[in-house]
Amino acid sequence: MTSFSSRPFHHPQPDSALCCGKTSLEALAHRYGTPLYVYSADQIIERLQLFQQSFKSRDHLICYAVKANSALAILKLLAYRGAGFDIVSGGELQRVQTAASEAMGHVVFSGVGKTSAEIDLALTAGILQFNVESVAELELLAVRAKKLKRKARFALRVNPDVFAETHPYISTGLREHKFGIDIRLAAAIYRSAANNRWLVANGVSVHIGSQIRAAAPFGAAIVRVKKLVEDLGRDGIALRVIDAGGGLGIDYHSDAAKTSAPGPDEKVQEYAAAIEQALRGFEGRLLLEPGRFIVAQAGALVARVLQVKRNGKKTFVITDAAMNDLIRPALYQAHHEIVPVRPRAGRMQTFDVVGPVCETGDFFARDRKLKPLEPGDLVALLDAGAYGMAQSSNYNTRMRPAEVLVEGSRARLIRRRETMADLLAPELF
Ligand code: LLP
Repeated sequence: MTSFSSRPFHHPQPDSALCCGKTSLEALAHRYGTPLYVYSADQIIERLQLFQQSFKSRDHLICYAVKANSALAILKLLAYRGAGFDIVSGGELQRVQTAASEAMGHVVFSGVGKTSAEIDLALTAGILQFNVESVAELELLAVRAKKLKRKARFALRVNPDVFAETHPYISTGLREHKFGIDIRLAAAIYRSAANNRWLVANGVSVHIGSQIRAAAPFGAAIVRVKKLVEDLGRDGIALRVIDAGGGLGIDYHSDAAKTSAPGPDEKVQEYAAAIEQALRGFEGRLLLEPGRFIVAQAGALVARVLQVKRNGKKTFVITDAAMNDLIRPALYQAHHEIVPVRPRAGRMQTFDVVGPVCETGDFFARDRKLKPLEPGDLVALLDAGAYGMAQSSNYNTRMRPAEVLVEGSRARLIRRRETMADLLAPELF
């Protein structure tokens, strides 16, 4: 049996098809077509529980970051196991409302640009907390709260000016980024908000970025946040909640499995230890907003090889999935492992794995060593459960993939493949 450590995908026998749990990806591709996203419900639950377990010694709530994968079936699965949600738009709010209306009281609303309509929707739904990113937003929140006669619980999202190693597009914790309020200005804003009867200072929040592999930067950010909470406490402003954001990274490279690299449980424990140490003395509630760590490795994008084409020195494997289905390699030069669903015998070859979209940037891998591939073969792009389908588009008028959720020995369609009629429906001509 070959397994791809930390992931639910494995070959039960060297010559059998890649499976998600017990379900063959070949059978799923045959039944639902390709490109196809396949997720393991068991792994999603396991990852949520890793967080829940690691923080069990304190009052906490894991608010899954909906943006990572907003499939209704996944939101429902997580809500049922006690997750709350981190949302960044009115659209995500309505997704949570649709999938798990009972979870509205466990929702935090983040994001640098909330509209009045979105704020109204969230106030009416009675969410747990607004994570406010500017003075202007706080003023708008107060106006809307007064208008709707509903108190707004808020946390200022502070920018702690902490550096964390990750791709520059997804780093957020430095003063030069658009996110949060300079932590040095936050205390004064809390003091002035204390006079507004429609605003309730509930907590403070921080999110330093995404795909952060080291635990130390999370601890460093929380040290600064806790100091702010203590300073405010001395002024009589008691913040009950610290929201530590999301951002814990995963191993996209499967070679990590062969070394002594820590597994997901150790990663979460190390992360929890850094946060707990920084929080020492804080008796309030902890919120966390993990997205990627919960869903990324649970998902794969299954694609079929259309052609294998030589151009000069290069051999291109052209699949029926493209950058519109999974944009991470094109956008962040991200690495995704690619596994032939039924590996052929023969020597490894060097391929560029690309999609049919008319851009040179439409690639999944460059100069990747893989077992031989031929037209009609299936490949699985691993670790595609987070920011895969969620960032997909209809570029080149391509229908977005179907999605399947594997739960134990059962697999079910959770989103059908788009049709041309779906795409044309909003258009007028
Ligand atoms: N909370 C806030 C306020 C966020 O902005 C994010 C992610 C999260 C939580 C969840 O972070 P996670 O635990 O998933 O790292 N599309 C990029 C990632 C963008 C992350 C944006 N914010 C990618 O594919 O790598």
